[in-house]
Amino acid sequence: MHILLMGPPGAGKGTQAAKLVEQFHIPHISTGDMFRAAVKNQTELGKRAKVCMDQGKLVPDDVTIGIVRERLAEADCKKGFILDGFPRTVEQAEALENIVAELGLKLTCALNINVPAQELIERAVGRRICKKCGATYHVKFKAPGKAGVCDICGGELYQRADDSEATMKNRLAVYDGQTKPLIEYYKKAGLYKEINGSQPMDKVYSDVVTVLHG
Ligand code: AP5
Ligand code: MG
Ligand code: ZN
Repeated sequence: MHILLMGPPGAGKGTQAAKLVEQFHIPHISTGDMFRAAVKNQTELGKRAKVCMDQGKLVPDDVTIGIVRERLAEADCKKGFILDGFPRTVEQAEALENIVAELGLKLTCALNINVPAQELIERAVGRRICKKCGATYHVKFKAPGKAGVCDICGGELYQRADDSEATMKNRLAVYDGQTKPLIEYYKKAGLYKEINGSQPMDKVYSDVVTVLHG
């Protein structure tokens, strides 16, 4: 199972990926999470990525393709992976085609989680993440038992720096301009599948599993 999880910012890629990992035990590779880890560790990559992320812009293709190339070459990706938030440009999609071919792998499908723009801002602005274990919550749609505290590990919840309404508007514009064309790209490649992301999280997940089995 070599799956691409696509969709606009806040669509639920990370939420669905976490459920897939639990069921299928394959690595979840999120370029956004990789960049955030680099920012936290103040590496050179992190310093470069932060400037772009804070403005809601994409990190340059050469940088992003480089980290994905390295990650996909690791042994745990042989039996499968869930790529979340990559590719995001046609250049990245073309590079991925080469990387996968070089590794002797084949993409299973490109799953696009479709959610209307007006719902996405509310999802991002209300998102909270555990500092300790990374679990994702939402103040309205997936509220923790105690505000600001992780149900799983008791860790403190925080808000992502790019989850303000203003930055989210930029992220949505970037998505429309640079990432949306990938829908046509994967339709042409015969890999495209669409999921209705405007449903409760568990229903979205059961649709994901149905599509994967189909
Ligand atoms: P990244 O971290 O990938 O952010 P994104 O694509 O904007 O997506 P999000 O993580 O915001 O949303 P998600 O779809 O994972 O939603 P989630 O499940 O959390 O990228 C961040 C930045 O890094 C980019 O802007 C860019 O700068 C850089 N970057 C990353 N990849 C790059 C690349 N390939 N090239 C260049 N630059 C790159 O859900 C959101 C919220 O909604 C949560 O609170 C959740 O609880 C809630 N929710 C989820 N599902 C539902 C539901 N069904 N109903 C109600 N609420 C729901
Ligand atoms: Mg995410
Ligand atoms: Zn936690």
